[in-house]
Amino acid sequence: MTTSQDQVIIFDTTLRDGEQSPGAALNIDEKLTIARQLSLLGVDVIEAGFPYASSGDFEAVQKIAEIVGVEGGPTICGLSRTTRADIEAAGKALKPAAKARIHTFIATSDIHLAYKLKKTRAEVLEIAPEMVAYAKTFVDDVEFSPEDAGRSDPEFLYQVLEKAIAAGATTVNIPDTVGYTTPAEFGGLIRGIKENVPNIDQAIISVHGHNDLGLAVANFLEAVKNGARQLECTINGIGERAGNAALEELVMAFHVRRQYFNPFLGRPSESEAPLTNINTGHIYKTSRLVSKLTGMSVQPNKAIVGANAFAHESGIHQDGVLKNKLTYEIMDAQLIGLTNNQIVLGKLSGRHAFQTRLQELGLELSDKEINKAFVKFKDMADKKKEITDWDLESIVNSEVQQPLELFRLEFVQVSCGDRSRPTATVSIRVPSGEELTDAAIGTGPIDAVYKAINRVVNIPNDLIEFSVQSVTAGIDAIGEVTIRVRHEGQVYSGHSANTDIIVASAEAYVKALNRLYAVLQSAIEKVSPQKSQPVEVVASI
Ligand code: KIV
Ligand code: ZN
Repeated sequence: MTTSQDQVIIFDTTLRDGEQSPGAALNIDEKLTIARQLSLLGVDVIEAGFPYASSGDFEAVQKIAEIVGVEGGPTICGLSRTTRADIEAAGKALKPAAKARIHTFIATSDIHLAYKLKKTRAEVLEIAPEMVAYAKTFVDDVEFSPEDAGRSDPEFLYQVLEKAIAAGATTVNIPDTVGYTTPAEFGGLIRGIKENVPNIDQAIISVHGHNDLGLAVANFLEAVKNGARQLECTINGIGERAGNAALEELVMAFHVRRQYFNPFLGRPSESEAPLTNINTGHIYKTSRLVSKLTGMSVQPNKAIVGANAFAHESGIHQDGVLKNKLTYEIMDAQLIGLTNNQIVLGKLSGRHAFQTRLQELGLELSDKEINKAFVKFKDMADKKKEITDWDLESIVNSEVQQPLELFRLEFVQVSCGDRSRPTATVSIRVPSGEELTDAAIGTGPIDAVYKAINRVVNIPNDLIEFSVQSVTAGIDAIGEVTIRVRHEGQVYSGHSANTDIIVASAEAYVKALNRLYAVLQSAIEKVSPQKSQPVEVVASI
């Protein structure tokens, strides 16, 4: 994919900055699945990770470079500090990519220099160009970021950027690392860089911003008006602390308000040519995938991809929309891949209709996965009259594409009510292949289920988040459960959907435990690769 001069480059950092969200850790297969979907979405650059940070990160970047970074695919980028070891690791991991970029960064704000780096401005002015030049020995495409640019002295920033560009940086990225600036200030900063860095025409100006004050997207829009041509963003806006600028909000702002933005990119205002390369029809699907794999649920009122983003509740609004959609809608839900085709399949639908609908929704499954999904679909159709596109997507997301299944929930049953003590019985297949059954009493049915699971799985953890959301409307709606547990300071998430929220809760918990168990298991393998035994699972009855 090429980006023309009058377009904005979309640089997705879901797999790097997004993965820095607490509890959002992804395994290599999950990162690859997201990278594939980002490629279908049409992002120009995928920042796939920080190769020096861990062997897992290195391997993930290498795999994505090899499998997704093919000819005609996106540029694959790896992050590095301005050190030789970091840059070498990034260079090696990126080697298989047809188009590779090293993104190297060093802080420039006085606060970071004094307290974090303990370096002088003069030292930074030396290190930055030296490390950009070193990165150039691995790849042609080098991006340089002065971290905390939003709080840096602009005069110093101009000097660092000039030196980085002279050393070969092809993109200079301006991060508002702590989400401190306001739109007018951030736009002014970009304008200042354009006017004061003598060789700025030899590089693309990029922006990166955090959402601490909820201003990241607004800041980026001002940045584009003042000369920025690359936007670093994440799906659903996930990322450090309050997150990054949300890709879907930026892309749809440029789509819906194209006429307003066109002149800032040197085009006639009526130009219909898209401002980004994003295939907007993949936005919703990508959002759901990232939410499912990171366990970070999307708030219902989130712009573009929230469950309520296209819902009209008040009678006045519903009446207006029925008369003419334009009364209360500025974009069609179909643009982001949501269909109006709510009632698609039912109990009597055959395998062929089922498979055709999955294809129409862009859900590509192997024959084995289709068989598994079809069984789940029939099961759901027995309980639920109308199966919507959202239901189908939820079947595929939570039931079929689940690579990690060390513990498998075979059975869950609860008894509860205002005259009985909530009691749960669970059967779980454990990694040795054995099926273990146990029961427990709790303060409520879900508490009883979790206690019964704990008696079988026996890995200590604290439940730190539990949320249930309904995916579809109506009394028979699917409930989606997201949970997070903490073990020794690390957070693990699990996500599941079912018409029965007790079952979804049990499955989500088992999924989180699977992630936790996999990490414990790989830690044991690292210490003693030859002798590793599965972490012991003790049945209490
Ligand atoms: O927020 C930030 O400054 C970053 C840099 C590494 C670009 O994530
Ligand atoms: Zn960041």
